[in-house]
Parts: sequence; structure tokens; C-alpha cells
Amino acid sequence: MSHAWRPVFVVLAVVAAIVVMRVILVPSDFTAKDGDYKYQWHRLSAEQVSKDFTVKHRGRDFCGQCHPNHIEKMKDSGHQNIQCENCHVMYEPAKKSHPINLKEDFGYLLNIGIDRSRELCKRCHAELSYRPKTYTSSKGTEKFKQIDPTKHNPGIECAMCHDVHSAGFKTAAK
Ligand code: HEC
Ligand code: HEC
Ligand code: HEC
Ligand code: HEC
Repeated sequence: MSHAWRPVFVVLAVVAAIVVMRVILVPSDFTAKDGDYKYQWHRLSAEQVSKDFTVKHRGRDFCGQCHPNHIEKMKDSGHQNIQCENCHVMYEPAKKSHPINLKEDFGYLLNIGIDRSRELCKRCHAELSYRPKTYTSSKGTEKFKQIDPTKHNPGIECAMCHDVHSAGFKTAAK
């Protein structure tokens, strides 16, 4: 047999190996759903995996069941679109201070507490060269109020002066 056939056998062996590996590696339910060969190639059982995923953040309606006043206070404020969990979820369990155990009765998995640090507010309000100075709301273009934390009352917690929920100021009557 001519030595010229040898590379042909190598190529055939590689193709056979690829076909065998594909059968072994690709899950049996990997198909083009509804015959949509352009976008719908996926493992069908992955849909159930996503549905079974436990959602941890529940949004303000969940907190509002027991904290209606806070919902009311934030309603027309600059903070109206910010979820309670954005400020109150504590990623260090040691900082948890919620008096009611939300895990037992509600299956709620996050730790709720209070963070009074300047860092919390700087996350959104510190002036940064790449942070947009305006934003678009239902009323049109509005100014996104930012401060230079090195000049704006340094060393004092923001919550000493500002009412964090109404995004205004604390008053003597409070
Ligand atoms: C089943 C009712 C219930 C739910 C649901 C609930 N809370 Fe509370 N929460 C309470 C009660 C009662 C207190 C104690 C009285 C108070 O401060 O209003 C409290 C206190 C707090 C405090 C003060 C903690 C402290 O250290 O003084 C924060 C902050 C808080 N809740 C945030 C939340 C957030 C955010 C959610 C939604 C993720 C939430 N709560 C959901 C009942 C609830
Ligand atoms: C922008 C961040 C932020 C958001 C959004 C926010 N909180 Fe707070 N919250 C704080 C801070 C900071 C304090 C501590 C305030 C202080 O010491 O004056 C606090 C205090 C509290 C307290 C203790 C009692 C009080 O009023 O001081 C409760 C209860 C509470 N928040 C519930 C909520 C709920 C419910 C929501 C959503 C409807 C919410 N918060 C949204 C930052 C936030
Ligand atoms: C997740 C982002 C976010 C966080 C965190 C946040 N804010 Fe805001 N804040 C906003 C947005 C958005 C507005 C509305 C746009 C504006 O008025 O600049 C706003 C508005 C304000 C205003 C201006 C209200 C007015 O009408 O002049 C104050 C004051 C304020 N926030 C204080 C705070 C303080 C204090 C904290 C920390 C407890 C805080 N914010 C945390 C996003 C945030
Ligand atoms: C000692 C009290 C005090 C402290 C502490 C304080 N502020 Fe203020 N803040 C004010 C006063 C007074 C104004 C209004 C006058 C001004 O713009 O300086 C204001 C205005 C603002 C505004 C609106 C600026 C604008 O363009 O209209 C924002 C946003 C703000 N503060 C965020 C913060 C944040 C975030 C912190 C913490 C990092 C903080 N403040 C700490 C007193 C305080």
C-alpha cells in the first residue's frame, strides 16, 4: 500500500474520534427548540434549573409588608427607585441586626442590617470623572446630585444630617 494513504487514515481516525466524543459529551436534550436553528440551541433541562434557582433579593414589596411607612417616605423622593435591599443587605453576617427572623417564616436568605458608613452613600453620590452628571427620569433630564466626599463634611456620617429614606434632611421634629 502506498505510504500516501497514511495521512488519510489519520484524518479518518480524528473525524471518528470527534463524532464519538460529541455523542458522549453533548447532553441528549440539547436541541433546537421549536425548530429555531438560529437562536434556540440549548439544553432543554437548563430551563428547569433556572426556574428552580432560589431568588434571594425580593424587592421592596416584600419589605413593605411590615414597613409601609418607609415605602411611603421614599415614594416621591430621589430614592424612589432604589430598593431597600440595595442599602440594607449586609454581606457580613455579623452585621445582621434585623429583629425578626425572616429565614424561618419567609425563607428569606439574606442578612438585613443597617450600614451608616459614608461608604454606602459614596457608592452612588461620590463625584467621579466617569460618572454621568445627569440622568433621565419620567420628568425628563435631571441632575444626579454628587458631592466630593473629601470636601462635603468629611468625617461625619451622611445619615447624621440627611434623612436617607426621604433623601432630604433630618429635621428637629424627628
Ligand atoms: C415580617 C415583618 C417584616 C418583614 C417582612 C421585614 N421586616 Fe424589617 N423589621 C420588622 C420589625 C418588626 C422590626 C423592628 C421594628 C422596627 O424597627 O420597625 C424591623 C426592623 C428593621 C430594621 C431596623 C434594624 C435595626 O437594626 O434596628 C431594618 C433596617 C429593616 N427592618 C429592614 C427590612 C428590610 C430591608 C426588609 C425587606 C428585605 C424587611 N425589613 C422586612 C419586621 C419586618
Ligand atoms: C439609600 C439607602 C437606603 C435605602 C434605599 C433604604 N434604607 Fe433604610 N436605612 C438606611 C440607613 C443609612 C439607615 C440608618 C438611618 C439613621 O441612622 O438615620 C436606615 C434605617 C432604616 C430603619 C431603622 C429605623 C429608621 O427609620 O431609622 C428601617 C426599619 C429601614 N431603614 C427600613 C428600610 C426599608 C423598608 C426600605 C425600603 C422601603 C429602606 N429602609 C430603604 C439606608 C437606606
Ligand atoms: C443606589 C444608589 C444610591 C445610594 C446607595 C444612595 N443614593 Fe442618594 N440618590 C440616588 C439617586 C438616583 C438620587 C436621585 C437623583 C438626585 O437627586 O441626585 C438620589 C438623591 C439623593 C439626595 C438628593 C435629594 C434632592 O432632591 O436634593 C440626597 C441628599 C441623597 N440622595 C442622599 C443619600 C445618602 C445620605 C445616602 C446614603 C445613606 C444615599 N443617598 C445613598 C442614589 C443613591
Ligand atoms: C454636617 C451635615 C452633612 C453631612 C455629614 C453630609 N451632608 Fe450632604 N448636605 C448637607 C447640606 C447642608 C447640603 C445642602 C447644601 C450643600 O449642597 O452643601 C447637602 C447636600 C447634599 C447633596 C445635594 C448636593 C446638590 O448638588 O444639591 C447630596 C447628594 C449630599 N449632600 C450627599 C451627602 C453624602 C453622600 C454624605 C456622606 C458622604 C453627606 N451628604 C454628608 C449636609 C450634610
